[in-house]
Amino acid sequence: MRIAIIYDSVFGNTAHIAEAIGRSAHSLGEVTMLPVRDAHSLDPAAFDLLVIGSPTRGFAPTPAIAEFTASLATGTTRAAAFDTRLDPDHIQPAPLRWVIQVGGYAANRIAEGLRHRGYEVVEPHGDFLVEAAEGPLKPGEIERAEAWLRQVAGSSPAA
Ligand SMILES: Cc1cc2nc3c(=O)[nH]c(=O)nc-3n(C[C@H](O)[C@H](O)[C@H](O)COP(=O)(O)O)c2cc1C
Repeated sequence: MRIAIIYDSVFGNTAHIAEAIGRSAHSLGEVTMLPVRDAHSLDPAAFDLLVIGSPTRGFAPTPAIAEFTASLATGTTRAAAFDTRLDPDHIQPAPLRWVIQVGGYAANRIAEGLRHRGYEVVEPHGDFLVEAAEGPLKPGEIERAEAWLRQVAGSSPAA
């Protein structure tokens, strides 16, 4: 299985998740891991699974990931989306928690973009939590990311 992982990260948390996903993917096949700034010449048709991830910023992916997804060649490859986002338990006051949840998350936007380009989006989307905007990741999220990749790659049953 050939797996491409394309990600963006401002403070490094999404990069840590991408690395965990990459480690997990290595046990399933050949892995190409690229920060989005280096991914413009990627040929999606050369892969069996595209994995695209971004921090959630303003309910959306970073502009670089949004542009990358929008400009991907159309294709029918399987694809999976993940993001990092604030842990709702750490958002105060509570009404702000509601606003952020209703606003939505980067992974959903990435998945919409991928579907629009013809890709077969596998679910669930990855939703990895940070305890504050600059991190750290919530304990256990690295292990959850490793398990998520195995799930979307089809090697373990859906949760
Ligand atoms: C300007 C800004 C906007 C953000 N917007 C959201 C948001 O809409 N929803 C959310 O859950 N987290 C939001 N966050 C928290 C980010 O998701 C968090 O900074 C990110 O997961 C960290 O990943 P990174 O280290 O890879 O940049 C925001 C953070 C910043 C700095």
